[in-house]
Amino acid sequence: MTKPFPHTPTFMTIDEPFRFEGELFDLEVEGTIPDELDGTFFRVGPDQQFPPKMGDANPFNGDGIVTAFRFKDGHADMQHRYVRTDRFLAERAARRGLFGDYRNPFTDDPSVKNIERTVSNTNVVAHAGQLLAMKEDGPPYAMDPRTLETRQLWDWHGRMKATSFTAHPKIDPATGELVGYAYAAKGGDSRDIAFYSFDRQGRMTRELWFQGPHASMIHDCGVSERYTVLPMIPQMMDVERIRRGGILFQWDSKVDQVYVVIPRDGEAKDIRFFRAPNALPGHVINAFDDGGKVYLDLPVVNGNVFWFFPDAQGRHPDPSSLRTQVVRWCFDMNSPSDTPTASVIAEISAEFPHVDDRYAGRPYRYAFMQASDWTKPYNADKAGPIMGFFFNTFLTMDMNTGKTKSWFAGDTSSTQEPVFAPTRPDGPEGEGYVLGVVNRRAEHRSDLVILDAQRMDEGPIATVKIPARLKYGIHGNWVPATTFPR
Ligand SMILES: [Fe+2]
Repeated sequence: MTKPFPHTPTFMTIDEPFRFEGELFDLEVEGTIPDELDGTFFRVGPDQQFPPKMGDANPFNGDGIVTAFRFKDGHADMQHRYVRTDRFLAERAARRGLFGDYRNPFTDDPSVKNIERTVSNTNVVAHAGQLLAMKEDGPPYAMDPRTLETRQLWDWHGRMKATSFTAHPKIDPATGELVGYAYAAKGGDSRDIAFYSFDRQGRMTRELWFQGPHASMIHDCGVSERYTVLPMIPQMMDVERIRRGGILFQWDSKVDQVYVVIPRDGEAKDIRFFRAPNALPGHVINAFDDGGKVYLDLPVVNGNVFWFFPDAQGRHPDPSSLRTQVVRWCFDMNSPSDTPTASVIAEISAEFPHVDDRYAGRPYRYAFMQASDWTKPYNADKAGPIMGFFFNTFLTMDMNTGKTKSWFAGDTSSTQEPVFAPTRPDGPEGEGYVLGVVNRRAEHRSDLVILDAQRMDEGPIATVKIPARLKYGIHGNWVPATTFPR
């Protein structure tokens, strides 16, 4: 590589390229890591290997790099390794960026015409003996969960025919099934959606194809015992636009939120499309059902959070002007109405939710999230300007009341998505720990903090010191040691 990276917001402050792979054995700890923490916190984020071919890139275009924090007997070890996607390998061989703009193959170097473009930077999910590194514009890559070696592009033994797969599948804790979907499932900006289930051995048990009302982003899903809900975000896709040099997604404030409700054992004729006024449905907290009524909890924002996917006039709101409500939608499958009812659980800028995974798809009480608390101070002189997504607080939310217990990371810090680890397999819901990376922006370094999920406001019980900077990650998961026996 002979070119420098551009000095643009995607590549500045804590998001300067890091590009380092390695291992750290027995990390330094302040406080005490609980002995019962036995498992791995896997997380992934973008870290572009080479300067962008097009001069700049949006934050979602970077190569996926996975971190594994492995906990055993009060110790923590760390591995940090790129996903060896076909794209990563092609660019490494050429020692330069060959792929162009985000989800725009028309801007690629001709030499990579038939190479899979996905960068697997959005989520890492453990299923059927594999760690799947995922991004919604392509199939996952399977990795060895113990070494983080990349095994192969994963299409479930050739059974998964869609050209992409969500980065937010859900795992049914009762059956071990992985439930997911693909949008634009025949490529480009097709309205085709494919719904999939795979059993705990990774065998495909369900495949259902249908068309949505339009082609738009479907980033996450809710999965209850009997239903799957796909929130369609009013970010409209248009391949003709990227052919002309534009951006694949465009915010349209005239388009409704559409919630697609799919009976997990049903047929295409059983699918229902519910509509709610224009807004941005965020990450799904959880879903549950009573047979006829399906409930979906998620933050809903009153405008477009993706400043790099603006509207037709090139406009996007100032992030600090947006308002978030944590909403519980109810979709009544026995009513002919296509309007869901909504109850607002809380008004708080909280996102990147996790629940106690043993309660996924079931009635539950607790959510663990990060929040942007703009009432708290930020020392830009020491910590640098805020660019892009910014969160500074971890919280536990009681979904029955909307009340929260929170911990503010400090005026020179920002947080990344937290995960939840239960104290013991048969313990009560929400008894356990919240683990999350905190960026110490003034020190250009990161920590991993461990908080008591029920006493978040008391601060970390352990701080695992990382003598390096972990760029802003996207998603991750806690995986108990029993999932991948040593
Ligand atoms: Fe996501």
